[in-house]
Amino acid sequence: MRVAVLRYVTAACVAVLAITAGAVRAHAAPDAVAGATTLSHTQSVYVSHCGGCHGIEGISGPTFVPMLRNSVGSFACTDEGRAYLVRVPGVSMSLIRDDQTLADVMNFVLITLGGSSTPPGFKPYTAAEVHTWRQHPLSGPDFMALRAHVLERSLAACARKQGKG
Ligand code: HEC
Repeated sequence: MRVAVLRYVTAACVAVLAITAGAVRAHAAPDAVAGATTLSHTQSVYVSHCGGCHGIEGISGPTFVPMLRNSVGSFACTDEGRAYLVRVPGVSMSLIRDDQTLADVMNFVLITLGGSSTPPGFKPYTAAEVHTWRQHPLSGPDFMALRAHVLERSLAACARKQGKG
């Protein structure tokens, strides 16, 4: 008996939802997809070329893929760190061959995903910087040690800048 009532209520809710959705759809633009999120061109390039590993919001979870969300900006207080972020293999060797498009993706990564970790006054990447740095991809067994040193120097520079500001 209870189950039957529940089924009736569920069916009624679904019907109301369907009617409401229909009403909303009737007012939307003819080609709009109800409930769909609109991504900018840069965001959709990020999602298809980087999001598979780094997560669509820059959250990669407990894996060997570094977290970008509220973290990647810590590298951005030195030129060495800015270059490092472009030289990592996933970026420098990306199938995004157009330097301006890759610069746009990196600026999205730093400014939007980097969030609180990105220093105020961060200078957006230019196509010319990306062009130069991606020609020197990082590799080798010492990668993690290099990453640690680059990060340490950038964090020290961030702290100095903060102290002044
Ligand atoms: C196949 C998986 C994969 C893809 C695709 C990928 N990455 Fe990565 N990314 C990694 C891994 C793993 C690392 C750590 C360095 C390494 O081992 O290459 C990394 C490192 C980074 C770093 C340095 C972060 C840090 O904390 O050291 C940045 C920035 C980055 N990736 C951005 C991107 C962007 C932007 C794209 C798309 C253009 C991209 N990655 C595509 C796996 C990936």
